[in-house]
Order: sequence, then structure tokens, then C-alpha cells
Amino acid sequence: MPALEAEIDSILANSRLRFGEVSHATARGGTADFTWDYERSRDGLSRLYEKAKRTQWNANDLDWSIDVDAEKVATQMATLAGGPGAGRSIMAEIDGSPVAKWGDREWSQFRIETLNWRLSQFLHGEQGALICTAKIVETVPWIDAKYYASTQVMDEARHVEVFARYLDEKLDGHFPVNPELQLLIDDVLSDNRWDITYMGMQIMIEGLALAAFGFMHMFTEEPLLKQLLRYVMADEARHVAFGTLSLQEYYQGLDGKEIRERQEFAFEAALRMRDRLLMVQVWDKMGVPEATVREFLLRLRQGQAWFQAPLFSKIVPNCKKLGLLDAGDGWLRQKFTEIGVIEYEDHGDAQLDVELLDAVTADRLAAQ
Ligand SMILES: [Fe+2]
Ligand SMILES: [Fe+2]
Repeated sequence: MPALEAEIDSILANSRLRFGEVSHATARGGTADFTWDYERSRDGLSRLYEKAKRTQWNANDLDWSIDVDAEKVATQMATLAGGPGAGRSIMAEIDGSPVAKWGDREWSQFRIETLNWRLSQFLHGEQGALICTAKIVETVPWIDAKYYASTQVMDEARHVEVFARYLDEKLDGHFPVNPELQLLIDDVLSDNRWDITYMGMQIMIEGLALAAFGFMHMFTEEPLLKQLLRYVMADEARHVAFGTLSLQEYYQGLDGKEIRERQEFAFEAALRMRDRLLMVQVWDKMGVPEATVREFLLRLRQGQAWFQAPLFSKIVPNCKKLGLLDAGDGWLRQKFTEIGVIEYEDHGDAQLDVELLDAVTADRLAAQ
């Protein structure tokens, strides 16, 4: 399977990219757009802005006195997600598997590193969202959207703050950003078309993040992490709604060629998030040589489509709401069908999101 081999090679090659010790520069496309039309004419965005102002919270609202046992959290999450041996036998049975001889100690470390790696990518993704949202304030042409986006800048700063604090105070620091995630954020940020930054960040990256937060929230009983995720998810649900509301209007005015470009961008971003976020840094820390990782990942991916699909449970319905699924000749519907995620097109979560918001508001009031 040469295509798959080439792709894994390119992912591993990218993983050697360095983004600098303490900073990473990306050219940011797009012009700063002033508007002199201050009339509040978009009711949906206006309501979202009012809600965002009312539901602000503070990182200090969380109970940081809770002690966290990383091993217990990681083991318990793996157990709830599919039994204590979830994934273990599949990975161990592959020919030449580097994990075949692992005992409980190695598996325990692997689970801890994996938890840390996931939370680290959440952290870096949140910083990506912070920077993209700051750009959106400048580039979106409508005053209602500028107002709302400014509240999201504050939200994202708070999300960076809580994930960084959790990793530093309760776990063992953080992994560097996954190069593929950084490259995707770079592309989203450097595109000159304001709606691509919007769609890439608010629909695709945030849509996937919201689903990933949801699984972690479901599969952890660690009270601080659960509370942190619940607060962050309540904000994220609003962010995805912001993207959907704004782009629905804009996409109605685009022609067929322009829509196809958006469909292709959405699909490419989906594939990159599905296939390319390999935990190379975790394997490195587990002492597995890169050549072994390459062979192992190749074999693992040839036989699996097992756990990624649910991550699309937010992305597919939102692409549908934007009209991207069926526009033109239904190109994106066809592509999502091919990768086995079309079943999520009508996945509803409005009720869950409302419940989250209510729960967070109630917590906040109780704390006052
Ligand atoms: Fe966020
Ligand atoms: Fe967000």
C-alpha cells in the first residue's frame, strides 16, 4: 500500500519539524475590516453575544485544591472507555508489535502519557483558537460578529489558562504541539479568505474538539477534570453555534466554484485531523524506535477504522447546516460517505449543550 506508506513517512517527517523553543511565527492572511454600519441587524448573533457576556466564568471558580493521581485517572478513563484491556489486545496482536511484550507497568505509563498528550493537544489547539478568534474580530465584516468574536477571545484565553494549569499543577507538564495540528492551524490562519479561518477553526477544529472533550468528560470521574471540561464545553458549544450562524448567511451568497473550494477545504481538514494526529512523541517517550513505530502504525491503520468516526459527530451535522454537504453535486456528502462518517449528519446535540450551559450557570451562582 504505497500511498499509506508515503503518508505515514510524511507524517513522521513532519513530526521532526521544530516550531521553535518558545515561539512559532505564522504569516497571517487577510485585511483588517472596519465597518461603519453599527446597526444590530443579526438577531441570532446578537443573542449569542448577550449569552456570552452573561455566562463568563473564571478559572479560579474551579476547585484547584483537588489532588489528582495521574495513574488512577488514566487507568479509570481507559476502563470506562472500553474495559481495562481496550485496544491492548488489538495493538499487541499485530505482527512485530512493539507492545507485544509490554506488562502492566508499560501499559500504565502508556495510558498516562496518552492522557497527557491528548490534554497537551487540547492546550495547543486552544491557543490556536485564541489566535484565530483574535483575527476573526479584525476580518469579519459585521458588527454583531465582531462583538461576539471578542467574547470568544476571552473564552479561549481562559481555556488556554485552565488546560495549562491542569497540566502543570496536576500532571507532569505538557508535550509539544503535534506538528500536524500546528500546520493545520497555520493554514487556517494564513488564508486570506475570512470565512476559511472561521470555517476551519469554528466548524472543523472546534467541532472535533467539542466531540473529543465530550468523550473525555464522559469517560473520566476525576472531579476537577470533569468540571473543567464541562465549563470549557459550555463555551465551545456557543463557539460552534457562532460559526454555523455566521457562515450559513455568507455561503448562501457564494457561487458553485467558491462553494466547492469550501467543501474541499472542509474535507481536507477532516482527513488531516482524522489521520495525521499520530502520537509520535508518546512512542518516543516509551522508547519505541521510529522505524518500529512506522511499521506498527502502517499495520495498525491498514486494519482499522475503529474509533475515529465518533469524532465527526459535530462536524458532519454542522457542514450540513451550512449547506456544504449537498451543495453542487453533493461532493462532500459523497466524501463523508466514503470515509464512513455520513451517519452523523443528523446527530443532534442541542439538548446536551443547553444542559451544559444550565449546569455551568447553576455552579457559578452557587459559588457566589
Ligand atoms: Fe476553546
Ligand atoms: Fe472555542
